[in-house]
Amino acid sequence: MRHRVGVIAGDGIGPEVVAEARKVVDATGVALDVVDYDLGARRYLRTGEVLPDAVLAELAGVDAILLGAIGSPEVAPGILERGLLLRLRFELDLYVNLRPFVAPPAVDLVVVRENTEGVYAGEGGTLRKGTPHEVATQGSVNTRMGVERCVRFAFRQAEARPRRHLTLVHKTNVLAYAGDLWQRTVDEVAAEHPEVATGYCHVDAACIHLVEAPQRFDVVVTDNLFGDILTDLAGAVSGGIGVAASANLNPARSGPSLFEPVHGSAPDLVGTGRANPVAAVRSAAMMLEFLGEVDAAARIEKAVADTAGTTGSTTEIGDTIAGRV
Ligand code: IPM
Ligand code: MN
Repeated sequence: MRHRVGVIAGDGIGPEVVAEARKVVDATGVALDVVDYDLGARRYLRTGEVLPDAVLAELAGVDAILLGAIGSPEVAPGILERGLLLRLRFELDLYVNLRPFVAPPAVDLVVVRENTEGVYAGEGGTLRKGTPHEVATQGSVNTRMGVERCVRFAFRQAEARPRRHLTLVHKTNVLAYAGDLWQRTVDEVAAEHPEVATGYCHVDAACIHLVEAPQRFDVVVTDNLFGDILTDLAGAVSGGIGVAASANLNPARSGPSLFEPVHGSAPDLVGTGRANPVAAVRSAAMMLEFLGEVDAAARIEKAVADTAGTTGSTTEIGDTIAGRV
C-alpha cells in the first residue's frame, strides 16, 4: 500500500532536514506518494497567503503530513505560527502532541501535550491599544472534552509501556480552575486504569526533576503551554533539541496526522550544514509507525540510535543513517 504524504518543508532549515528525512524513508523501501506544499515565509512574502482554504482542504485528504519548520525573522511573530502551524493543529483536530525523549540510562519518557486548547486557543484581546491604559487579556481554554480525550490517550500510552506510570504536570496551586479540571479528569480516568500508577508534579518542580532526576518520568500529560516549554527542556537534557521528534496526532484517524521536529526554523544555521537532521528523521519514523509501517520505523530508530554521537554535516548524518536502515 502506498501512502500519500503532504510535505511542508517550510522555512529556515526546514527544507534541509526534510530532505534528509525523505532520504532515510526512501532507504527503508517504503514507497510514499509525496505532494510538496509551498507554504511558509517564502509564499507569504510573495503572495500574502498563509494557508489558503483550498490548500487546507487538500491537506485534509492526505494520509499524513511531514513538516520541517515554520517561522522567519522576515515575518512578524505569530502570522505563520498561528496562521499555518496552529491552524493545521486546530482544523485537523490534532489534539495530542506526542513527544518522546530517550537518552539512556536516565531518560525514557514521553510527553503527551494537549494540542488544541489552553492559551493556544487565542482567547483574549486588547483594549485601548497603544495608550497608557492599554489592556491585554489572554485566557486559557480548558474543556472537559478536550482534557479528557488527551488524558485518555496518555493512559493508553502508559498502559503500553513497561513502567505503566503517568504524571500529570500542571500548576494546580495557582491555576486553580484549570488545574482542578485536569486533576479531577486524571483521577476519574485513573479509576478505569488500575494497572497504571499516577503522580502529580507542579510544572516548576517538573523542570528541576527533568534536569536532576528525569528517571522519575514515564508518561507525562500536560496542557498546551506547559507541554511546549517542558518539551524544549526535555530535548535539552536528552541529546539536544536537534534530536527531538514529535507527532501531532488525530488519534481518531478521521484525517491526517502531522509529524515535525520539536525545533524551529533556526535561520542562523541555514546553509551552514550544521542543522541536525535527526529530529526530522525521527519524526518521519513516527509517521511511518502511525501509518502502520512498524518495521521500517523500528529500523530507522535503531539506525538513529546506532548513529548517536556521530558528528558530521546535515547531509553526512542523513547519509550515515540512510546507510544503516
Ligand atoms: C512547537 C513550537 C510551536 C508551539 C510554535 C512554532 C507555534 O514551539 O511546536 O513546540 O509553540 O507549539
Ligand atoms: Mn515549542
